[in-house]
Amino acid sequence: MTERHLVAMPLSSQDPIAVRAELLAAQRDFWDGRDTTHLHHPVWFRQFAGHGLVIRDLTVPVAPVSGAVPGLLNPPRSAAVAYLLGAVTADGIGYVHVVAARRSHRGRGLARRMWATFETRAREAGAKELHAITTPGNTGSIAFHTAIGMTAVRLPDYSGPGEDRMLFRRTL
Ligand SMILES: CC(C)(COP(=O)(O)OP(=O)(O)OC[C@H]1O[C@@H](n2cnc3c(N)ncnc32)[C@H](O)[C@@H]1OP(=O)(O)O)[C@@H](O)C(=O)NCCC(=O)NCCS
Repeated sequence: MTERHLVAMPLSSQDPIAVRAELLAAQRDFWDGRDTTHLHHPVWFRQFAGHGLVIRDLTVPVAPVSGAVPGLLNPPRSAAVAYLLGAVTADGIGYVHVVAARRSHRGRGLARRMWATFETRAREAGAKELHAITTPGNTGSIAFHTAIGMTAVRLPDYSGPGEDRMLFRRTL
């Protein structure tokens, strides 16, 4: 990342609950209007924050978040512009649950950069494969994951009857 005002940091180095509130408040900018609250279950910010990543733009102040938990340590000052939630399983799968970049910051390599960092850390944690999942209609996600070298397979009923999903895989 050559833009010095874009700073990548582990999710666990921040207050993950404050970050969750910030990301949910800004989800229209990250997810093109989709309601993705269900993807941001607190477990990804409490128990699984260890492999999460956030990129902040030091030139953009964080917007006030209504409903944020008061009294938290270390609240963010500059805005999150990209983030990745993921974990490494006991059987060696580095799983990226979500990756997103703000519309204003797309096409600058931020998601690719976070995936590269996640891959390094997943290898260190013993991962042998990388996985991610998306819906078949998410053409941007499919294009992105293909561009970073993942193999895409459509799996019927993956998430229940009629709920096909694209599974992205890459062996390490
Ligand atoms: C998918 C997403 C995370 C990509 O973020 P990004 O920071 O713009 O991606 P990058 O700039 O790192 O792009 C990396 C590569 O993917 C390609 N790519 C990314 N988005 C693409 C798109 N919509 N269409 C075609 N190619 C795309 C880029 O061209 C680039 O390829 P290159 O390096 O060979 O030129 C972003 O579009 C997004 O936040 N979408 C909404 C959230 C979402 O659907 N997330 C995925 C499901 S979890």
